[in-house]
Amino acid sequence: MPLPSRDQAVDLLHEHLKGDYVLRHSRATEAILRQMAPRFGGDPDLWGITGLLHDLDLELVGEDQHRHGRETVHILSERFDFPTEGLEAILAHNGDVLGIPCRSMLDHALTAGESITGMVFAMALILPSKRLMDVNPKSVAKRIKEPRFAANVSRERISHHEALGLTQLEFCALAVQAMQSVADEVS
Ligand SMILES: [Fe+2]
Repeated sequence: MPLPSRDQAVDLLHEHLKGDYVLRHSRATEAILRQMAPRFGGDPDLWGITGLLHDLDLELVGEDQHRHGRETVHILSERFDFPTEGLEAILAHNGDVLGIPCRSMLDHALTAGESITGMVFAMALILPSKRLMDVNPKSVAKRIKEPRFAANVSRERISHHEALGLTQLEFCALAVQAMQSVADEVS
């Protein structure tokens, strides 16, 4: 079977992941990757579905981060003719642990894109309204410079936007807008 359709990908996601946060994180990552694809000559479906499924094995591998990414690649390769570009990006997004560097645009986009979601969600939570729709990209960019804010979000991984030729503010604006476009699904 070729790249899974979006419906197949959503079914697969719910088959493997139950946690509310990881599901919202997956959907937010998809939205960001879909938004980025046309800017970098990527296929929006491949980029989007890679974003949606990048953490598919998270609940399966638990604490064993050395399996994170590898198990997802195994599941996707068994069931689909998933493009190598997408599989490589899924491995590279855990490249710190797996010793795999980011090489392609999709590798960098997934690594930066999935990381920025944590900053944007954290930003919404500290607003009086707690609404994603009220998040301002400039505030996100400012908070990236504060290491204690959402301290578990890797600034190094976010900085992969530089490899895409996007400034930090451009990247924050793109990510916030993409997440807001699916606010009803990720809030
Ligand atoms: Fe992730």
